Amino acid sequence: MSDGKPPLYVSRLLPDPVMATIRERFTLVQEPADAAPVPSALREGLSQAVAAIVTLTDRIDAETIESARGLKILANYAVGYNNIDLDAANRRGLVVTNTPDVLTDATADLTWTLLLATARRVIEGDRLVRSGRWTGWAPTQLLGTAVSGKTLGIVGMGRIGQAVARRAAGFRMNVLYHARRPVPASPDAAHWEMSALPALLGRSDFVTLHVPLTADTRHLIDAKELAQMSRGAILINTARGPIVDEAALVAALRNGTIAGAGLDVFEEEPVLHRDLTTFPQVVLLPHLGSATLETRVRMGSICLKNIEAVLAGRPAPNRVGTPGQLA
Ligand code: DGY
Repeated sequence: MSDGKPPLYVSRLLPDPVMATIRERFTLVQEPADAAPVPSALREGLSQAVAAIVTLTDRIDAETIESARGLKILANYAVGYNNIDLDAANRRGLVVTNTPDVLTDATADLTWTLLLATARRVIEGDRLVRSGRWTGWAPTQLLGTAVSGKTLGIVGMGRIGQAVARRAAGFRMNVLYHARRPVPASPDAAHWEMSALPALLGRSDFVTLHVPLTADTRHLIDAKELAQMSRGAILINTARGPIVDEAALVAALRNGTIAGAGLDVFEEEPVLHRDLTTFPQVVLLPHLGSATLETRVRMGSICLKNIEAVLAGRPAPNRVGTPGQLA
């Protein structure tokens, strides 16, 4: 490139402070748009760059990786990296990195936002007030379910699962968790009980999912698991949509197998199972887990740190290995 700055591909527009740093230090091989690139544009951009920042909506398959001959690093602007064929990247010696830690609090906060909004019928209340049909306080109006003192079941106890658990202390909740390994001992963890998945599902008033999407966790929650939950329970998902069988969830909501759901992620984003929007006891968000300005700027900084390390011949601080690590 003519100005001597390394050629970088960014698959879509990132927040202004991140774009400003990028423009200072790199030459953009394409001007990013505020929309996901079509596969041919993605491939074209990657093939012109030595480094790239891609997002969770970009499917980076083996063929795309093969065609990006000069590419040294794919910095995924997310903690989850199920959008990238990691085996193909490893075969080609292409470094893949993610953005752990910086989005833990934002995602845990949003998990609680969904949990509280679903339990306390916040969206229904907002709609009622806006509709002009609210006739004033009533003893039986929009009765929700209590949160304080209840049991929270956390499936996946990585960084985000633990951050969700720490917040539960403020609500005096019992915390059960399901994970491959017990969490290391700490004053917080002393109050958390490890559990097999069926027991956790049966005992929890709220079940929240924090596992990465892998072949093992796809449809981890399907009709069988939903049937193991208690009838008054609420399911929260801020991890990845395909962890839940959406059709089975719709059936469980319709039959009263569970009481409600708070969802930030969906099986085929941005398309939803057509019946999901029909349930008043379901709160739906457009994948906002990490969506604070502060977090998204930090995610950009991590991507750039990894890219600069690799281009300088140093190891990437956030290289991801095999899929299956907990977020
Ligand atoms: C992630 O980083 O995996 C989040 O889903 C992004 O919002």
